[in-house]
Amino acid sequence: MDCEGLAKAWLSAAFEQVAPGCGGGKVVPSKDARFGDWQCNDAMGIAKRAGRNPRELAQAVVGALPLPEILEKAEVAGPGFINLTLSAQALAKGVEALADDAALGVPQVGAGERVVIDYSSPNVAKPMHIGHIRSTVIGNAIDRILRALGYAVIADNHLGDWGTQFGILILGYREFLTDEERADLTVELLERAYVRSYARTKEDPAWLDRCREELVRLQAGDEANLATWRRFIEISMGEFNRIYGRLGVTFDLWRGESFYQPMLAPMVETLKEKGLATQSEGAWIVDLRDEGLEVAIVRKRDGGFNYTTTDLATVRSRVEEFDPARIIYVTDERQQLHFRQFFRICEKIGLCGKARLQHVWFGLMRLPDATFSTRQGNVIKLETLLDEAAARARAIVDESHPDWPERERAALAEAIGIGAIKYADLSHDPATMIVFTWDKALALDGNSGPYLQYANARMNSLLAKYREAVGKEPAAQTLAIASPAEKALALHLLQYPNAVARAGELCKPSILADYLYQLSQLYSSFYQGSPVLKAEPATRDARIRLCDATSKVLRGGLALLGIPTPERL
Ligand code: ARG
Repeated sequence: MDCEGLAKAWLSAAFEQVAPGCGGGKVVPSKDARFGDWQCNDAMGIAKRAGRNPRELAQAVVGALPLPEILEKAEVAGPGFINLTLSAQALAKGVEALADDAALGVPQVGAGERVVIDYSSPNVAKPMHIGHIRSTVIGNAIDRILRALGYAVIADNHLGDWGTQFGILILGYREFLTDEERADLTVELLERAYVRSYARTKEDPAWLDRCREELVRLQAGDEANLATWRRFIEISMGEFNRIYGRLGVTFDLWRGESFYQPMLAPMVETLKEKGLATQSEGAWIVDLRDEGLEVAIVRKRDGGFNYTTTDLATVRSRVEEFDPARIIYVTDERQQLHFRQFFRICEKIGLCGKARLQHVWFGLMRLPDATFSTRQGNVIKLETLLDEAAARARAIVDESHPDWPERERAALAEAIGIGAIKYADLSHDPATMIVFTWDKALALDGNSGPYLQYANARMNSLLAKYREAVGKEPAAQTLAIASPAEKALALHLLQYPNAVARAGELCKPSILADYLYQLSQLYSSFYQGSPVLKAEPATRDARIRLCDATSKVLRGGLALLGIPTPERL
C-alpha cells in the first residue's frame, strides 16, 4: 500500500475505535506546510453529529493507536483538525515506489469496465473548424486518461455523414464544379459547391426540388448518388486523417451517422409503442415541455429523421453491442439542450441499459482578430491554426538553434506548435471560454505547453549529463529528502495518482494540466536552490533520483494529455 493508503488505514481504524460506525479517516494534502503534510478534517463533523467535543475527539483519535512507521507525527490543531507529518524515510520510499511503477501509481479503478467516448465527430464535406478542435483535444485527453485508469475505452468518431445536406451537395457538386475540380476534389471545393447550392435553394424553388430529388435518390440507394456520396466521405477522411495524424489522435471506431440509418424507423416505432412519441402537425415529436426541456422532433413532416433520432438509435446500438458502463459525449456548449433531451428520452424508455450518459461540454474558443497573419473567410479552419502554430514555433526554434539539422528543427517546431495549441485548450476548465493568444500559448516562461516541454527537455539533459559524468543510472540511486523544497516536490509527486484519478472521474483534463504546471514550478524551485551535478556525491545521487522521478511523472502526465515531449528543445 502507498503512504497515503497506509495513513488512511491507520486513521480510519483509530476513528473506528473512538467513534464506532461513524466513518472518518479521509486525508487531503495540507495547503500550508506549517500544518503538516496531510490533514484530516473529519473529526469536526463526526463530533457534531454525536454531540461530542471535536477537539477532544480528534485528540482521542490521534492517541488511540500507535503511530505507524510512515508518520513522523500526528497533531491536533484548531477546532479539531488532525495534521499528519510523513517521515522523510517513508516519503522517499513512496516516491521511489511511484517512479519504479510502470503505471506511476495510477490506480486501476476502471477494472476493465467499458466506456464509449464519442468525440471529434466532424461533418463530412466541411472543413474541420476551430469548434472541433476542443472536442478532439479534450476528448482525446479524456480517452487517454481513462485508459490509464484501467477502463476499456472505445473511442468512436461519430461522423456527420448523413442528412439533408447531401442532396444540396450532390447537386452543387455536379452543377458548380468543373471536370478538373471534380477530378482533383478537395474538401474546400466541396464546401464551396455546397455554399453556392445552398444559397440557390433560398431563391429558386425549382433548385430546392432538384436537391430533394437527389436526396431521395441517395436514400433509396441509387448507385450513382451513393458513389458520389462515398467519394465525399473518402475526400473528407483524407483531410481528417491528416489532422488526426498531426494531433496524434486515433479512434477505435468510425461509425458515422449513416451507420444508424436502418435503425431510425424502428426507433421511432419504439417511441410510439411506449407512448412517448405523439403526432403534431404531421411530425412525430416527444413533448418534454413539462420537464422544461422543450419539444424534440423525432420524425419530420416529410418523413425525414433528425439528430435526436440518430442519437437515440446510436445509444441503442452501442448498448446492445458493447453494454458500456458509461457513454461520454464531447461537444460544444450549444448542444446542451439536445443532449439533455435525448438523455431524458433514453431514461424514460430504459434505452441506456446500465450505461450512464454524460455530456462533457465546453465553451467556444475565441480568437482575437490578430490571431492569423493570413485569414481566409470567416470560418477558421483547424488546419490553418495548426500550420500557423508550427510556423510561429519554427521562428522560435530557428532563432535559438540555427545550427540544428533542418529535419530536427521542422519536427521540433511541429511538436511545439501542437503542444502549444493542445495545452492552451486543456489547461482551462472545459466549461470556460478561452481567449486564445499566441503570446500566451507559445510563452516559454508561463503556464504553457512549450514551458512544460522545455522543463521536460531540461530534465532529460540533466539526466543524460549525470549518466555521462557519473556513469550511473539515475533511477538506481537512493532517494533522500533533505530540504523543504525537496519535500514539497516529493509530496506533490505522491499526488500524481490522485490528479489522474480526479481528472478521469470528472472528465476534466485541466486538473492534470494544473497538476503538471505546479509540478514544474516545484521542480524549478528545488533545482534553483539545490545544485545536482555539483553537489557532493551522496547528495548528488539522492537529488538525481528525485529529478528522475519528476521527469517520469512529467513525461507520463504530458503523454496522458496527448502533448508531445521532444527529447531536446
Ligand atoms: N457532428 C456533430 C457536430 O459537428 C457532433 C456530433 C456529436 N456526437 C453525437 N453523438 N451527437 O456538431
